[in-house]
Amino acid sequence: MGVPGRFFLTTPIYYVNDAPHLGTAYSTVNADALARWHRLIGDDTWFLTGTDEHGLKMARAAQEQGGSPQDWVDTMSRRYVESWAALKISNDDFIRTTEARHTSSVQQFMQAIYDNGYMHKGLYEGWYCVSCEAYYPEGDLAPGQLCPVHERPVEWLTEENWFFELSRFEQPLLEWYERHPEAIFPESRRNEALGIIRGGLQDISITRTSIDWGIPVPWDSAHVVYVWYDALINYITAIGYGADPDRFAKWWPAAHHLLGKDIIRFHCVWWPAMCLAAGIDPPAGFVVHGWLLVGGEKMSKTKLNQIDPVQLAGDIGVDALRYHLVREVALGADGDFTYEGLIARYNSDLANNLGNLLARVATVVGSKCGGSGSAPRPAGPGVRLSEVAVEVVSACRDAWARFAPNEALEATWRLVRTANAELEAIEPWKLPPGPAVDAVLGDALEALRIVALLVSPVMPSAAGELWSRIGLEGRPDEPGAAADGAGLLWGGYPAGRPVTKGAPLFPRRSSER
Ligand code: MSP
Repeated sequence: MGVPGRFFLTTPIYYVNDAPHLGTAYSTVNADALARWHRLIGDDTWFLTGTDEHGLKMARAAQEQGGSPQDWVDTMSRRYVESWAALKISNDDFIRTTEARHTSSVQQFMQAIYDNGYMHKGLYEGWYCVSCEAYYPEGDLAPGQLCPVHERPVEWLTEENWFFELSRFEQPLLEWYERHPEAIFPESRRNEALGIIRGGLQDISITRTSIDWGIPVPWDSAHVVYVWYDALINYITAIGYGADPDRFAKWWPAAHHLLGKDIIRFHCVWWPAMCLAAGIDPPAGFVVHGWLLVGGEKMSKTKLNQIDPVQLAGDIGVDALRYHLVREVALGADGDFTYEGLIARYNSDLANNLGNLLARVATVVGSKCGGSGSAPRPAGPGVRLSEVAVEVVSACRDAWARFAPNEALEATWRLVRTANAELEAIEPWKLPPGPAVDAVLGDALEALRIVALLVSPVMPSAAGELWSRIGLEGRPDEPGAAADGAGLLWGGYPAGRPVTKGAPLFPRRSSER
């Protein structure tokens, strides 16, 4: 989908009233790994994240703090910028919905929809959850008139506002999805979105007069744009909609939106309909992930079960946390987070497998080869590691293309385990220096070089460290380093490089905090 060689990836923009937590870090780290992979294979990549700052929830939270909404969102948004920097998120842009560029883009986009005849004024009444910033039909409420997501009381709101005529898009959306069968990953979420559309779409109320914390409606300044309607437009603001036509044409519609399963309706139903109404193509794809749960429940401010990802990274290491977030749960599924699970996987995959492989290789290169690495044998049927490496590289390419980064890591560890097994079988530490030792070490160093490239989207710092310990220059995450025909081909490790052992790359951890 999209233009080959071009990849525009977005995360949802996060509500600033909540602090970054492990659930939002899950979304952001997985997106970052995808973006880094695409840069590595040489795609022209643009990775966007940001914060969602309008709406009743923000206005009320700012009021409670006694400050101006703008000052308050400035402070709160900074926490996301800082947390994502601490987690080595490589976003190319960070959008805030209170920026002037966004106001201008939203107003132009809204005006286009209005001019195309898809807006009308009407009276709206309904049950509203302030935490979701969404109205719920009576039938969707949890028992006791509670929000189905937050299980808190909803409020009855009555307003005269502008409606977007979503009901006119049932057929156009079904036809669009028919023509784009791979637009939603995974398949089960596609069925969910199609189910919503087939179930019938109602016009939606997309402006508010009850608050003024929002973007003024261009043709009726007594109204501000409803927060969700404004938020979705961030994806095109950031690439120059209404401001820089060339930039916009470059990146749109080559966009993939990563999102949690709770916001499918907005992304996979509203947003493509909004695009069609404004006269632009819907985005190329939606990648829907599940929830990271704590004790079976979604992390959220209202449940007070949030974990601070930066603090956790301080404990275990940024790369180790990123590895866990990508490896443990398949994108699309829900998964329970436990500290014990994090430590167990750290010890088995990182300390015992990858860390141990590097330490062993460096030790034997030191004791048998004067600290200087040898070249791998040419790829071929007799060279087991070369065969496994070829299979693993192809499995990784396929897994990343299917938005299955956990499978890419799983495949990579096949190479790590095979390299360890080869060393154990041949026991070069027991052999005298000579060609037999050089051959096995050359192959193992080459496997480590390939592993450094393959893990670099997920563990950029550890990959860089691994790279320099085996004596390579530059970095494993140079754009295009894994382009077709480049660094992932067997045989790239040059002889004669200084190999250094250094401190353990991943020291073993105890599960006691
Ligand atoms: N502001 C809206 C998104 C607007 S996008 C145009 C919003 N913000 S949010 O901060 O509440 O959630 C942002 C994303 O974080 C959602 O995709 C949501 O699924 C994800 N997550 C929040 N908690 C999560 C978990 N516990 N686990 C996984 N993802 C989670 O919705």
